Amino acid sequence: MSTSSHAKGGKHRQILVTSALPYANGPIHLGHLVEYIQTDIWSRFQRMRGHDCVYVCADDAHGTPIMLRAQREGIKPEELIARVAEEHQADFAGFHIQFDNYHSTHSKENRELAELIYRRLRDNSHTFSRTITQAYDPEKEMFLPDRFIKGGCPKCGAEDQYGDSCEVCGATYSPTELKNPVSVVSGATPIEKESEHYFFRLADFQGMLQYWIKGDHMQPEIRHKLEEWFESGLQDWDISRDAPYFGFEIPDAPGKYFYVWLDAPIGYMASFKHLCEQRDDLNFDDYWRKDSKAELYHFIGKDIAYFHTLFWPAMLSGSGFRSPDAVYCHGFLTVNGLKMSKSRGTFIMARTFLDHLNPEYLRYYFAAKLSDGIDDIDLNLEDFQQRINADLVGKVVNIASRCAGFINKRFGGRLESQISEPALHREFVEAGEAIAELYEKRQYNQAMRRIMALADRANQYIDEKKPWVLAKQEDKEEEVQAVCSTGLNLFMILTAYLKPVLPAMAKEVESFLHIAPLTWNNYSVPLIGHTISQFKPLMTRVDPDKVEAMLEASKADLKAEPPQITPADKRQGPLDKDPISPTIEFDDFAKLDLRVARIKAAEHVDGADKLLKLTLDLGGETRQVFAGIKSAYSPDKLEGRLTVMVANLAPRKMRFGVSEGMVLAAGPGGDELYILGPDAGAKPGMRVK
Ligand code: MSP
Ligand code: ZN
Repeated sequence: MSTSSHAKGGKHRQILVTSALPYANGPIHLGHLVEYIQTDIWSRFQRMRGHDCVYVCADDAHGTPIMLRAQREGIKPEELIARVAEEHQADFAGFHIQFDNYHSTHSKENRELAELIYRRLRDNSHTFSRTITQAYDPEKEMFLPDRFIKGGCPKCGAEDQYGDSCEVCGATYSPTELKNPVSVVSGATPIEKESEHYFFRLADFQGMLQYWIKGDHMQPEIRHKLEEWFESGLQDWDISRDAPYFGFEIPDAPGKYFYVWLDAPIGYMASFKHLCEQRDDLNFDDYWRKDSKAELYHFIGKDIAYFHTLFWPAMLSGSGFRSPDAVYCHGFLTVNGLKMSKSRGTFIMARTFLDHLNPEYLRYYFAAKLSDGIDDIDLNLEDFQQRINADLVGKVVNIASRCAGFINKRFGGRLESQISEPALHREFVEAGEAIAELYEKRQYNQAMRRIMALADRANQYIDEKKPWVLAKQEDKEEEVQAVCSTGLNLFMILTAYLKPVLPAMAKEVESFLHIAPLTWNNYSVPLIGHTISQFKPLMTRVDPDKVEAMLEASKADLKAEPPQITPADKRQGPLDKDPISPTIEFDDFAKLDLRVARIKAAEHVDGADKLLKLTLDLGGETRQVFAGIKSAYSPDKLEGRLTVMVANLAPRKMRFGVSEGMVLAAGPGGDELYILGPDAGAKPGMRVK
């Protein structure tokens, strides 16, 4: 999508940026950080351009899971959220996320704004109340959200499924349909009970929303999703919950509380309001009134698009506030191609990463992967190490370390007193506007590519000039100074371009080059006759042992954490089904000779990152097969096992040798794989029929 309508070149902009408010019942993990890093890069970039950019966030402190977690820990919810707020902020600070304000939805400002918005909606007749029947835990004396009831799936019978959907067959249903339902909270059998609830009539905003989504306010993928939701009709939204609930009581409705998702987005306003109280230059109404000239952007994950593109603009509109300029969605983080998993050690907490690795590694890696789309992004730990080592250490920092030594040792830190490569310098300066546009459009991956191409160019220049050779020739002093000064001036420009992503390293560079903080307005002025400080190593290679240690520690974290219940709003749709292939005739099937085989040996293959070499016993006959299952199995887990193979597949010559057949495995795509095996009693060589 284009944001050009908002991105007026020279105009001074007033921008308010938010990231989604993390739940206060658990720690920040690397998945969350995709979002906070993406937003932080964007707002740092805007500030470097000289705009007023305010970035606010808060903890999302209300709701049943937080209330129950506090009970489990034997503390008040207020104590829990105070502790988590500190942990969250320490984690964010560790990753250099620079909020102008970090607040809480359990705050005075948020209560006042939530009440104000609710009253306005109510007075404009956008709310109503109705009695509904809901599952109730008679022991715990509370109504149960769908996720707090488990039982047998009414469609496929799978046991231990949540009250809203089945993870086995993907069916969605209401909790009353579950077989043998139990309350997750107490184990009691839920009963049905009536209660009065308050609703928001979303359909009142059908026209407004239909108009709004036609504007340039979201990515096309999200717009399409919205159009589907429109087709299925806009449902009334239940915005109240019964006591006991941790949240704000609804005005004039004792015992009824605002549903957490009602006051959560209002938390954006509350955090900003709290900031306005501390800063004279910011005025709340200037940013939130209907005809505001300020820009408002929400960065969120695609799982919460519904709340931000339907309910939120409708709530704002119905209560007399402006709508957002855009809601920017990002995809989900996978690690090594798979969903983050506690047992694999890939459910990595922000703190665990900080305990082992430099946070700017992750900022750069995410930047190199993030686009303006909603595709999931993968943290492949091999690729991660290679990227950091090749790009940041091998290309960028290398420029400085190759040049600074000569300048420091031979010229007392003094750079040349003219600019000897004006064309090259200009080429670097001129790239700045294109790079800025890529940042503006959130195409960070392309921005990083441009910057690395420039870094290659600088290294190539130094390679051609060979200052280390010149340094050995007596009459080449001046040239050594010229080449190294050019190198450092180019390095300064690259540092400015990378500064939204690598703020801490940029700061080190500013102190080493002895310059004022870099902005998008000052990097083009070359350093001439300027004296730099002593060079210090700016970034080191990724230590693979530390990566290993981080994964180990993440497995250990798992034991410390009590199991968490995914809130109902995080429900993902059923897995995209892999469609069944076209029908074949029996004769086609009969051509396949499937046999039981015993894996006699399994070995790594030098140079192959997906394959394992298997030696298979077919009951007398031995076959060698290369199978692409390395991501899922270590060789020692395979030896001795029975599996099923295609025994009459024509041998194929592969790079590592001839493969004489194929082993059967199932998987959803990506690295997740399960090899198939026969039941006990089958013998190698038996035919599958
Ligand atoms: N509390 C709500 C948001 C309220 S906003 C008014 C919430 N909290 S969350 O902690 O579950 O998620 C916070 C943000 O992190 C969301 O935008 C979510 O999409 C994002 N992510 C959480 N896990 C993620 C990944 N694994 N990958 C990428 N983003 C993820 O939702
Ligand atoms: Zn099912």
